[in-house]
Order: sequence, then structure tokens, then C-alpha cells
Amino acid sequence: MLADTPRRYGRITRVLHWTMAALFAWQFTGMVLKHVLGRVPLMAFWVGTHPSVGSLLFLLILVRIGWALSQRRQRPSYGTGLVGQAAKAGHVAMYVLMLVVPTLGLLRMLGDVRPISLFGIALWQGGAEETLWMTAPANLVHGVLAWSLLALIVGHVAMALVHRFVWRDETFGRMIGRPAEMNGASLGGGSLPNRADRIGAG
Ligand code: HEM
Repeated sequence: MLADTPRRYGRITRVLHWTMAALFAWQFTGMVLKHVLGRVPLMAFWVGTHPSVGSLLFLLILVRIGWALSQRRQRPSYGTGLVGQAAKAGHVAMYVLMLVVPTLGLLRMLGDVRPISLFGIALWQGGAEETLWMTAPANLVHGVLAWSLLALIVGHVAMALVHRFVWRDETFGRMIGRPAEMNGASLGGGSLPNRADRIGAG
């Protein structure tokens, strides 16, 4: 099924989620290795792909936000309890940073004097003067916001594993397309509650 339902995320949401997860992993692994290994030849290639992959992520997050808004009434709920509300806040923060981080990177690229080429395609041969209002915000906070996003992603992965291996509810299964296999949950109608819901609702 392409669209989301209250029971699970549909194929479009899942493809967007896992494609973006892989591309974010590429971005962060490259930047972590750059800090650890320095500018060795492998890193020149890896870091060289950073603006291209980041620009692709910018387009994908626009599609993902549009899709999420179109599906908001029919996707699995976060639940009403404290844990569910915390999950919702964490997801909103991730969406905001997934939009802001590449936007700042793109702005800096466009305001810079250096030539622009994405995925090997030369798009602009460079300008005479740097446009400060475009480059300054990223110089100031692109890195720090990106590392904050990484911290949220680490928390997000940790909570997904808690759902899967500790609470053993169906939350993890919703994003791999097999929602009702955990904990012997039945395939009967209606939305399945998750463990966070039961705990948080008190
Ligand atoms: C969602 C996508 C992106 C993520 C997750 C991301 C993440 C990061 C991270 C973690 C760093 C390292 C900061 C440090 O060294 O402490 C960095 C640096 C950098 N990024 Fe990105 N970035 C993204 C998109 C972009 C885009 C679209 C561009 C340009 C078009 C870009 C250009 C740069 C540049 C030039 C640097 C090195 C200078 C700096 O640290 O500010 N990034 N990015």
C-alpha cells in the first residue's frame, strides 16, 4: 500500500524514511571520518560529495514534509502519554533541522565566490564577490545544528530499538512494513496502541 494507515506507514513514507536515513548516514560518517582521519585522499572524495548529497537531501525533505502533511490524518498516532508527546516533539525537531541544515548549506554555496558543481555537473563558474547574508548563517551554525540533528537521530534510533527489543510493541514494525508481527498482536481492525502509549497515559 502506498499511503499511510493508522496501523502502519505506507510504501512512500518508508522509501523516503530509509533513503534519507542512508543519505544522512553518508553525510555524518563522512564528516566524522574527516575529523578523525583528516584530509586523506578517501576523505577528499567523501567530503567532495557532501554538497551534492546535501542538496539531494534538501529536495527529499521538501517532498517528505509535503507527504507527511498530506498523510497527517491517517498515519499511526504518537499516543497521548508523556512518552508519545516526547516522541512527537523529537520528530518535529528533527523535521525542522532536516530542513534548516541543508538550507543553510545551500545558501552558503550560492552566496560563495567558488564555482558550483553538483553530482559532477558544473552549474555556475563562480562570482566576484561573496554575498555575506547568504554565507554568514551557515558559517555560524551549519555545523552545530548538523551535530544537534545527529544527537536527535541517535536518540531516535535508540528509542526505536527500545520499542523493538524492550517494550516489544509494534512501533518499529510500522516503519518496516510489518506492524502486527511483534508481541503476537492480532490483525484485527482499528489502530494498535503502542507500549509508550500505555506507559505514558498512566
Ligand atoms: C542534510 C544535509 C546535511 C548535513 C547532515 C550536513 C552536515 C554537516 C556536518 C556534520 C558538517 C561538519 C561540521 C564540522 O566540521 O563540525 C558539515 C560541514 C559542511 N557542510 Fe554540511 N550538511 C548537510 C548539507 C550541506 C549542504 C547542502 C551543503 C552545501 C551545499 C553543505 C556544505 C558543507 C560545508 C562546505 C561544510 C564544511 C564547513 C563547515 O563546517 O561549515 N552541507 N555539514
